[in-house]
Amino acid sequence: MVMLFLSIIFAYLLGAISSSYIAGKVASGVDIRDHGSGNAGATNTLRVLGPKLALLVLVADIVKGILAIAFAHLATNGSQWAMALSGLAAIIGHNWPIYFNFRGGKGVATTIGVLATLSFPPALYAGLVAIALLLLTRYVSLAALTFVTLTPIFQIAMHTPAPYIWVSVIILLMTFWRHRTNITRLRKGVEHRIFSR
Ligand code: G3P
Repeated sequence: MVMLFLSIIFAYLLGAISSSYIAGKVASGVDIRDHGSGNAGATNTLRVLGPKLALLVLVADIVKGILAIAFAHLATNGSQWAMALSGLAAIIGHNWPIYFNFRGGKGVATTIGVLATLSFPPALYAGLVAIALLLLTRYVSLAALTFVTLTPIFQIAMHTPAPYIWVSVIILLMTFWRHRTNITRLRKGVEHRIFSR
């Protein structure tokens, strides 16, 4: 129980390290949250700081999710609930970081790391559909929402362990909540497209 608790705390504190905020400050002295969409994530980094830093932020945020689960695996001898809840904690840390006034991102890259680590085949299939949609529409938000919606569906179809499915459903709800302004823009047809001004 202590190790479960420690794993979750570690995951939150790791997830809360905002790579896009750090990239903005180090590279240009800007707070990424005051520019573009105001989101501390890879998409807004691409918009504000360019593709190289965006790729770095994307990878760093994905790795946070992977490391959080790897730590939980080691600390709890592979407890499924510990790994699932630690993955969730990493995303919560990314979205509401204690180091940065609780103003973080929408959790998409960290979610990719978490879901791919917890249940690779379902996340891969959901990811392939999401990437196809991204290429067709250039809406990152729509692709992200599709990814988190399809992953638990594929998980159920592929008999993924219950802790991973429950956490994926919570991630799905949290992702929709964090994307509510994007959803409004998508409905109005005015959502920002990637690689356009
Ligand atoms: O990664 C978040 C993405 O889905 C939307 O980002 O900056 O366009 O709100 P943004």
